[in-house]
Amino acid sequence: MQKRTLGQGLEVSALSLGAMGYGKARELPDRAEMITLIRTAVDRGMDFFDTAEVYGPWTNELMVGEALEPLRDRVKIATKFGWDIDQETGVHRGGVNSKPTQIRSAVEGSLKRLRTDYIDLLYQHRVDPGVPMEDVAGVVKDLIAEGKVRWFGLSEAGAGSIRRAHAVQPVAALQSEYSLWTREPEAEIIPTLEELGIGLVPFSPLGKGFLTGKIDSTTTLDPMRSSIPRFSPAAMDANRKLVDLIRAIGERHGATPAQVALAWILAQKLWIVPLFGTRKIERFDENIGALNVQLTQTDLNEIEAANIHISGDRYPEEHMRLTGL
Ligand SMILES: NC(=O)c1ccc[n+]([C@@H]2O[C@H](COP(=O)([O-])OP(=O)(O)OC[C@H]3O[C@@H](n4cnc5c(N)ncnc54)[C@H](OP(=O)(O)O)[C@@H]3O)[C@@H](O)[C@H]2O)c1
Repeated sequence: MQKRTLGQGLEVSALSLGAMGYGKARELPDRAEMITLIRTAVDRGMDFFDTAEVYGPWTNELMVGEALEPLRDRVKIATKFGWDIDQETGVHRGGVNSKPTQIRSAVEGSLKRLRTDYIDLLYQHRVDPGVPMEDVAGVVKDLIAEGKVRWFGLSEAGAGSIRRAHAVQPVAALQSEYSLWTREPEAEIIPTLEELGIGLVPFSPLGKGFLTGKIDSTTTLDPMRSSIPRFSPAAMDANRKLVDLIRAIGERHGATPAQVALAWILAQKLWIVPLFGTRKIERFDENIGALNVQLTQTDLNEIEAANIHISGDRYPEEHMRLTGL
């Protein structure tokens, strides 16, 4: 698989697989299949995998750890701290927590669950307004010095927080939502990353499935997506125009809408590594096929000229408030 380089020389496959899935109920029954999928992804040449303490909490890291233990030296594992997880019970108490003691305890837990003695890329999952960014970056700097962590990342952080963190411990990657229907990072975040030499790992590059063209207002959605304004039936009907456009562009390349959605991100900057999620090997193969789709300048111009307005926010209000801090 082609490689790309994020910040601080972090070289990874040009696409990354996220193991989040949607909700606890779906996580456990599919565990064996997901382990097979993750190992198949490594066979296909992917070497960059994403999880987080909060997914489950903990169950997702346990699954990723089991899947990758025999392949550890061939892969880079990214995980995240930063939600307020009770370190005794694993219960998410709600809200964020990046106090230094919480970070250290979360990292010790992640190392055990991931069956490894180092985390390649450790992200703060959301900025904690109660803890100065310098303190957070300082703890990660110490963890790097101790050999427990190799690279530092942030997620959904604002430009000011990125600069403050980077001044203490250089940041390798920002993981934030960016896709054909979430283009807000182009205004300030992407120029900031470019200036500081930080890579971008866009999550939800397929618009949580919508951009694949397989979801519409008649689809029964899981509770997570049902809570998102742009997945309301009316918003999905309005946003269909974007899927129609990428389907038409894809037809010229023999590509699916999912492949066009990923190829479009790959065409933006060489230091961007899209992070998609899927539970199915055939979809995994379809998605990595995006690496063979070369969009032309005409295709890219057509998307700009269409200037499609997206209906509905990408998160419910209480989640939106935690982004861009
Ligand atoms: N940092 C953060 O705050 C944050 C937030 C969200 C996500 N993430 C990370 O980013 C990863 C990906 O995010 P995501 O899952 O929200 O986004 P996504 O990749 O945009 O969408 C995944 C959804 O699309 C479906 N899908 C994937 N490929 C498909 C295809 N070829 N055809 C039809 N449907 C397809 C998947 O269904 P199936 O699974 O059924 O195939 C799944 O429901 C997560 O796993 C997680 O690691 C991070």
